[in-house]
Amino acid sequence: MDKLRITGGARLHGEIAVSGAKNAALPILCAGLLTAEPLTLSNVPRLNDISTTLRLLGRLGVHAEHGADGTVQLRADKVDSLEAPYELVKTMRASILVLGPLLARFGQARVSLPGGCAIGQRPVDQHIKGLAALGADISIEHGFVVARAQRLKGTTIRTDMVTVTGTENLMMAAVLAEGRTVLDNAAREPEVVDLAELLIKMGARIEGHGTDRIVIEGVERLHGAEHRVTPDRIEAGSFLCAVGAAGGDITLRGAAPGAMGATLAKLEAAGLRLECGPDWIRARMDGRPQPVDIRTQEYPGFATDMQAQMMALNTLADGTSVIVETIFENRYMHVQELCRLGAEIDIDGHTAVVRGVARLSGARVMATDLRASASLVIAGLAAEGQTIIDRIYHLDRGYEQMEVKLRALGAQIERLSGKEPA
Ligand code: UD1
Repeated sequence: MDKLRITGGARLHGEIAVSGAKNAALPILCAGLLTAEPLTLSNVPRLNDISTTLRLLGRLGVHAEHGADGTVQLRADKVDSLEAPYELVKTMRASILVLGPLLARFGQARVSLPGGCAIGQRPVDQHIKGLAALGADISIEHGFVVARAQRLKGTTIRTDMVTVTGTENLMMAAVLAEGRTVLDNAAREPEVVDLAELLIKMGARIEGHGTDRIVIEGVERLHGAEHRVTPDRIEAGSFLCAVGAAGGDITLRGAAPGAMGATLAKLEAAGLRLECGPDWIRARMDGRPQPVDIRTQEYPGFATDMQAQMMALNTLADGTSVIVETIFENRYMHVQELCRLGAEIDIDGHTAVVRGVARLSGARVMATDLRASASLVIAGLAAEGQTIIDRIYHLDRGYEQMEVKLRALGAQIERLSGKEPA
């Protein structure tokens, strides 16, 4: 199993490019199921979650090629299976995103239930409830969601909570439904907007994306399109936390600062000096960060996917901060590992109190989920001595060549492939 070895203390300097957003690319790839015509996508990051999705689409009969330049050519003209098997879905919950498109275009689908997940229960009841409201006949059989419908019929759906992939699944189902669908309490995340923009290029009629009320007029069929995936705001935010912790002066190219308001505001409060253009961010940091309180919220609030990285920055702050996680019930698994590096953090339910320390010290730690891994990298970059992070397959699910990018900024970080570190 690969590990990362970091020798902390190097300041970060230089320029790197931000990758395309994983969480935009995943639903966008699944949208390829909605038409027999080709989709040409660019800025698709080369990540494990993307290859899992391409494998899943391949199982369904979709022809897909991921070029080294980040382009993906998709063609779903010979779909010959309507089943997403357990072994693929269990490794990636977002596989549930094939349910809406398969049902809408082919009138049936069998998708394995995702099962438990490290960061919380994460049920898919809202996806199922919404599709049933669109007229699907849905049952759970042998661990699979089994859905059938002649043609889905537009209706008003109000989800009980704001759900990102739920909104995406229902939007992809509704674009081919008969009549008008209104998604109330819809997610406003930039990744939902990116998916809507692709669907519109494919001929869908959608309004209100980016607000909590999305209105979709169903069409008979969709056609091929070209689309560039929006930049990854979480990857960008993670690098900004890294320079916040390690100090230095970095510039991120191909970024989308306009979608990062909540993160940028907190980083500025922590003491980073930021300059932004339309697609770049420069960040400078000297000295210890200031503590910043965080409460995770749906977009445009502070993203739960940035909580762990921001906590890593707070561990070094000159004072105490309070973090409240409101989206997922079990998203503090990085805390124990950060404490192995010398952080002082207490958890009480959804609240974490972080008492900043003047220095962290390198240690062996274990990655437990995707963003937790990033927080350990950030802490390791600032810690004295050597940090070894085990189980970085979590990191590889969602960060494209993180260690290569960090090395380009002057960090001392290397991947240990399989072998035990000396
Ligand atoms: C997406 C992101 C993930 C991010 C999360 C919250 C992707 C591929 N993943 O995950 O990185 O952390 O949004 O911003 O885009 N819920 C239910 N029933 C449902 C659906 C959701 O109870 O049917 C609950 C969840 O357990 C959670 C909350 O709603 O407590 C929000 O989850 P949701 O927005 O659906 O997260 P994902 O779409 O899975």
